[in-house]
Amino acid sequence: MNDSPVSPIGVFDSGVGGLSVLRVIRAQMPGLPVLYYADQGHVPYGPRPMEEIQQFSEGITRFLLGKDCRLIVVACNTASAAALHHLRATFSEVPFVGMEPAVKPAAETTRSGVVGVLATPATFQGRLYASVVERFARDVTVLQDTCPGLVQQIERGDLSGPETRRILENALLPMLEKGVDTVVMGCTHYPFVIPLIEEITGPDVRVIDPAPAIARQTARLLGDRSFDGNSQQVYYTSGGIGEFERVRERLGLESGQVKQSIWRAGMALDGPG
Ligand code: DGL
Repeated sequence: MNDSPVSPIGVFDSGVGGLSVLRVIRAQMPGLPVLYYADQGHVPYGPRPMEEIQQFSEGITRFLLGKDCRLIVVACNTASAAALHHLRATFSEVPFVGMEPAVKPAAETTRSGVVGVLATPATFQGRLYASVVERFARDVTVLQDTCPGLVQQIERGDLSGPETRRILENALLPMLEKGVDTVVMGCTHYPFVIPLIEEITGPDVRVIDPAPAIARQTARLLGDRSFDGNSQQVYYTSGGIGEFERVRERLGLESGQVKQSIWRAGMALDGPG
């Protein structure tokens, strides 16, 4: 048995969305130390230019590597679309796990031949998305919606109020009219509103959350070692610690140490305190 301290992995997102991935990683490997970075000073990423999202992603990766992370999970479809390629080229010795909309399993299992994808504008604009649709969804109809404002609602912890419902109905009702039977969560914030999505779509629509596949891939890259036991969760936010805490609790994520990060000259740094 190896008693040497286990070095952490880093997981990041524009905000609390990546917590939908973190909770599955933590459930599967509770003894694996994880540093989670929520870039709430810049959320949302979705409407921003690709170049800017790439700079944020690189800054956060440098920050996490500076804390000895040995693997980085880009728990954000938008950052993956804008920066995964660049990150892998820039930090060639570091293993990365990135997100891509789960169009493949949707296309494989749809019976109606109509699938819906909910993701941010930047994700839909990226080459990664075009390539998964091109490779896996030639024979199905893919409907898309950017759910404007939904990321902000979830950042506020509003998972079921009237505005959140309105945004989701606007996205889903037209899809249902066109016969959609599978809906892909193409943004890591959205799994937090799956109960509301299922209320709107009814039980016959399958909702795909890619988090379990991402956790499996993470375990594979770590060598499938057992990470039983317990490690305290550490969170960083570039927004307010108080707000992060409120939302974390509302989303039902485990408590932990919450630390401040600040941005200076394009670099993510430790904050005061
Ligand atoms: N959670 C993110 C994603 O998976 C980004 C949302 C945003 O900041 O716009 O795409």
